Amino acid sequence: MSDQRLASWGNRWFTWSVGAVGVLLVASLLVGFVWLPSAHKDMSSGGLWDMICRAAGAPSTWYQGPTALASRPATDVVLTSDFLQRSDAVEIGRGATLAMQCVMCHGARGMSEAASPNLAGQYPDVVYKQLRDYRSGQRSSVVMYAMSQGLSDQDMRDLAAYYAFLPQASVVAPRATEVPQMVRVGDPLRNIPPCASCHGGIERKVGSPWLEGAPAQYLQTQLQMFANGTRRNDINGQMRNVARQMTPEEILTVGTYYADQPALAGTRKQP
Ligand code: HEC
Ligand code: HEC
Repeated sequence: MSDQRLASWGNRWFTWSVGAVGVLLVASLLVGFVWLPSAHKDMSSGGLWDMICRAAGAPSTWYQGPTALASRPATDVVLTSDFLQRSDAVEIGRGATLAMQCVMCHGARGMSEAASPNLAGQYPDVVYKQLRDYRSGQRSSVVMYAMSQGLSDQDMRDLAAYYAFLPQASVVAPRATEVPQMVRVGDPLRNIPPCASCHGGIERKVGSPWLEGAPAQYLQTQLQMFANGTRRNDINGQMRNVARQMTPEEILTVGTYYADQPALAGTRKQP
């Protein structure tokens, strides 16, 4: 048998193998670019072409208009580490007056008795950024969207200065709870950094909220919302990447742990 005869269409093995490779190729393209992406909630929202482009890793600006929702940044706010560190008495005073509209839910001294988050002693960059995100709709909450519409940029800075100035009155008795592994070391195998490396304890990164003493229900709901993408105002998806990988039990454990920590005045470290 000559070489020429081996690689010719007259040879049925040759024809079959070319055919089989073709079928395999089409099947794997369909699985990789259509079927798998369609099983992924985040990917299937924009139609077939969108799914194919995303699966191939094309930047979203190549196949979507600049106004498309998916290419909208998580937030418009740019935070710097010296944010609001120089707030003065005038700002705090103006903030106190503005905060009268917030008392109903966030408490008279910024410590909520309902399931709303505590604001007393919260870092100013957090309060300011969250208010901006509520106002623009990048963080969605019917109540806070309405509350933030009437606030100017200066109002939000004043409110942030006021709440940062308020001492955190502890609502829970100190408890000797063991620090969960997720908080202390995270999980290197799943690429989860320790919560304490951003939220304080090890280090505090700008924009990361003070979690100690917050209502457990609130913390757990926020983690679930980051995990399923309902909350997506975190810069570079830093919280979504963490929460998405956590099991429901882990969310329960860390939420309860942080809620049980006394938010003692004066224990908060400045960034
Ligand atoms: C009717 C109740 C209500 C009122 C009034 C209200 N809030 Fe809120 N606030 C909430 C709830 C509920 C949340 C949590 C919403 C969510 O899940 O995103 C919240 C969240 C926030 C957050 C985010 C905190 C965090 O840790 O992420 C800030 C900041 C805030 N409110 C500030 C204010 C300010 C300032 C005012 C007054 C101008 C105000 N709120 C008035 C109910 C209220
Ligand atoms: C890489 C830094 C980083 C790590 C690690 C991290 N967080 Fe966060 N977290 C953030 C930032 C930043 C925000 C604020 C996001 C925004 O801008 O809305 C946040 C927000 C949150 C919120 C919402 C709080 C509120 O008041 O709205 C919760 C709850 C939370 N983180 C819990 C955790 C837990 C639990 C862990 C560990 C399992 C963790 N985080 C690990 C950076 C981090």
